[in-house]
Amino acid sequence: MEPLIRAKDDISPLFCGLGDVARRMDAAKTLLVSDERIYSLYGRHFPALPCVLIPEGEIAKNIEALPSLLDGFLRHRVDRSWSVLALGGGSISDTTGFAAHIWMRGIGFFAVPTTLLAMCDAALGGKNGLDYRGYKNVIGSFHFPRRLFCDVETLRSLEPEQFASGMAEAIKHGILEGEDHFAYLEDSARRYGGEGGLNFQGCPAETLEGIVRLSQRLKLKIVARDPKESGARRLLNLGHSFGHALESASGMPHGFAVSLGIALACSYARAKGRMKEGDMRRILNLLARYGLPVNIGEVDADGSLRKKAADLFFMDKKREGEFVHFILPEGIGAVKIEKIPAEELLSFLLGDRL
Ligand SMILES: NC(=O)c1ccc[n+]([C@@H]2O[C@H](COP(=O)([O-])OP(=O)(O)OC[C@H]3O[C@@H](n4cnc5c(N)ncnc54)[C@H](O)[C@@H]3O)[C@@H](O)[C@H]2O)c1
Repeated sequence: MEPLIRAKDDISPLFCGLGDVARRMDAAKTLLVSDERIYSLYGRHFPALPCVLIPEGEIAKNIEALPSLLDGFLRHRVDRSWSVLALGGGSISDTTGFAAHIWMRGIGFFAVPTTLLAMCDAALGGKNGLDYRGYKNVIGSFHFPRRLFCDVETLRSLEPEQFASGMAEAIKHGILEGEDHFAYLEDSARRYGGEGGLNFQGCPAETLEGIVRLSQRLKLKIVARDPKESGARRLLNLGHSFGHALESASGMPHGFAVSLGIALACSYARAKGRMKEGDMRRILNLLARYGLPVNIGEVDADGSLRKKAADLFFMDKKREGEFVHFILPEGIGAVKIEKIPAEELLSFLLGDRL
């Protein structure tokens, strides 16, 4: 039998089946946290683990939903010798990671992401975020998972929209890293293209694993340089300044809002004469190929969504006083962090001239 995992074990992601994950956990001291949908699909792999189910999706991240998870900790008498295992998407890993951080000043946390977005992004890097009164991720902490386990077969049961949402973060990583990474994503969509982008239900597991591994490598490289987001890690917020505000204002899936945010950041950079036209085309084409929105005018014909998003924009964590640390794409593999007046970005969002 594999030895049980203890604190300070290897934090690099491990690709394996869910049965392997279950065998590595100490069933007497590990609480599984998931939601009903995911548990009904994959809970059978963890028959020995006690379990708490929390609401599905973004609702789980509302601070008001947190007590039901903490009540689960009490019910199962979770003490400092325990760990929690988050089985699910980014909403589950954010909520569970935060709860694990505050419970008895910190207990062990393992993540088994089951969405593309969580495998590529949300479940790694130690950041977690909860929503408060409609503002996204304004409560949160850093609590690194002791280990991340990935079974790409779980991605096959995603709704196509959910898969596409994850691709937005994967494409963001491709833009940040550069040509080889970005071209791999273009090539995968070309080779195994289906309706709405990659045929993720039928493509080889290696293709899914390739997309996930490239994203993880890029994200972990940046996080290792700047774990607490005081410098380079801000690059990972590409598309998120506008994206978070649009997500909070509309409730659209995270990746859809990020896709619009990336498209807006590209056209802002283009309007400033900073973005290469050819690269901008490739980025928008790849996002659109996955069925992701790239045209704010099509999503928000009367401008009401942008007005609502503008009100929320000022609670962005990337803002410092009158300025925003804006992530400015100049091309594929050429992304900068720039301090830009919040008012200027807001006028751009609302469609005024720069
Ligand atoms: N902490 C971070 O660094 C970070 C980074 C990016 C995003 N996020 C957060 O992640 C959240 C979005 O996460 P998400 O996109 O993974 O979605 P999600 O966790 O909100 O889940 C969406 C839906 O997918 C279902 N689902 C999950 N796995 C499934 C599977 N394998 N098969 C079928 N259905 C499945 C869930 O039950 C849920 O209904 C946002 O709140 C975002 O802010 C956090």
